[in-house]
Amino acid sequence: MPAPDILLRPCAAGDLEPLECWAATGNSRTHEQRFARQLAGTSTYFLATLREGPDAFVGSAEIRWDGCLDEAVPRCPEINGLQVWPEELQSRGIGTAMLDLLEQKARERGHQMLGLGVTEDGPKRLYLRRGYEDTGIDYVDRYTWIDEHLIEHHVADPARWMAKRLRTPAGAP
Ligand SMILES: CC(C)(COP(=O)(O)OP(=O)(O)OC[C@H]1O[C@@H](n2cnc3c(N)ncnc32)[C@H](O)[C@@H]1OP(=O)(O)O)[C@@H](O)C(=O)NCCC(=O)NCCS
Repeated sequence: MPAPDILLRPCAAGDLEPLECWAATGNSRTHEQRFARQLAGTSTYFLATLREGPDAFVGSAEIRWDGCLDEAVPRCPEINGLQVWPEELQSRGIGTAMLDLLEQKARERGHQMLGLGVTEDGPKRLYLRRGYEDTGIDYVDRYTWIDEHLIEHHVADPARWMAKRLRTPAGAP
């Protein structure tokens, strides 16, 4: 199957309602939280569409320019929450195409490294194939979600840090 032709752009305020219809996050308001970090300048919330159908989202991912907050993890921007949705669109190369474009965005801002945390073997295979190295660094990925009764659930998932060098430092052989 040919690689899909996708477009990647930053989230805008007008996307929040359609985003919630596309991939509902309920009381957690995850799209809003990602957009708030973008407005604060610490991240960019990227949305993917197919070039042939730019009105429908097919994926999303945040680059947190301030990196992963865990002190065990080296400082570099982090890809957070990469997802391709709906599920039937997965395994067609959209995630791979998104990674290429996310790396390009990080390069354009002058970054030499890009990292991400993995908690499952499936996505890990994809990242290894795309040149992300298993750093051997384990940490705890912490996040909170809020259920329909507005009760907060604090999650702590064991994660492995993976990182990719985006370019050779100037002056290196
Ligand atoms: C992880 C995720 C983002 C990957 O996106 P994706 O679009 O499915 O990724 P790709 O299609 O590029 O690659 C996945 C598989 O499709 C295959 N593939 C890649 N390009 C392809 C193409 N053009 N045609 C057919 N298959 C293709 C790959 O070989 C890969 O197979 P694998 O199971 O051996 O790894 C997506 O599966 C997802 O949203 N999962 C749920 C959320 C999640 O786990 N996110 C990761 C957080 S770390």
